[in-house]
Amino acid sequence: MDVHIARGGSWRCARALRADTAELLDLFLPWVATPGRLAIAQLGQSLDGRIATASGASHYINCLEARTHLHRLRALVDAVVVGVGTVNADDPQLTVRHVAGRNPVRVVLDPRARARADARLFHDGTAPTVHLVGVDLAPARAVLPERPARIGLACTDAGFDPAAVLEWLARAGCRRVLVEGGGLTVSRFVHAGAIDRLHLLVAPLLIGSGRPGLALPPIDTLDEALRPACRLFRCGEDTVFDLDLGRDAGLAQQD
Ligand SMILES: NC(=O)c1ccc[n+]([C@@H]2O[C@H](COP(=O)([O-])OP(=O)(O)OC[C@H]3O[C@@H](n4cnc5c(N)ncnc54)[C@H](OP(=O)(O)O)[C@@H]3O)[C@@H](O)[C@H]2O)c1
Repeated sequence: MDVHIARGGSWRCARALRADTAELLDLFLPWVATPGRLAIAQLGQSLDGRIATASGASHYINCLEARTHLHRLRALVDAVVVGVGTVNADDPQLTVRHVAGRNPVRVVLDPRARARADARLFHDGTAPTVHLVGVDLAPARAVLPERPARIGLACTDAGFDPAAVLEWLARAGCRRVLVEGGGLTVSRFVHAGAIDRLHLLVAPLLIGSGRPGLALPPIDTLDEALRPACRLFRCGEDTVFDLDLGRDAGLAQQD
């Protein structure tokens, strides 16, 4: 396939491409073709904005195509970040299985070191794994460990500074990062203005209760709401909302 890619990710091809191929290029090239650091977050959610039931069950809100989209995101980044709540609820592998590609480095944000000791990602040996804990619980390190290891990072009452997490990862060689969940983790990164793109994978499903996806501090008027540039893509029976947050679009930075 002879695709010419311009700066910024626009593309052209001498022959007509299948619609789904063209959509993939439209969706991914703007950031895959742009060099430099990138932080992308995703949440798979119901129409009413839930990412899991109250008991923590989230398998599966999204259809197979949307789950394949998530694996494609993993394959295109250097590291995938999740909060300890996701590790304890889902025992995820965070590997690339539905598409071809390299497994990203797996990073667990766990300031109080409360992750379950039997979590698969600490034992399966399928990808480098970093367990980020408060600096009082483990020594700081500048490089990725060969085996899953606790690494200490400075932490306040508000947790790790998302920018500091991304900085640590960039210095360790992970410049492209997917913040995969759960809701608390993605919300903290978005609120801190640390996310460039947010993919909301919305399934035609009403859960009506349970864990919220994005949750930001309250605002008084809709002038204060985020209104990012948004593109829509069909993904099986689900819809991907591709939001361009840019860095510094978080509420923390708003007037
Ligand atoms: N549908 C989806 O796309 C999706 C994706 C992932 C997970 N899930 C579901 O979401 C649920 C878990 O989500 P959740 O929102 O409850 O929890 P979570 O985001 O997975 O984990 C939250 C915890 O991670 C730690 N953490 C996250 N960011 C941090 C930061 N910047 N600094 C310090 N600590 C940080 C904190 O631990 P401490 O409390 O110890 O401070 C925090 O309470 C599960 O039910 C899972 O199935 C759904």
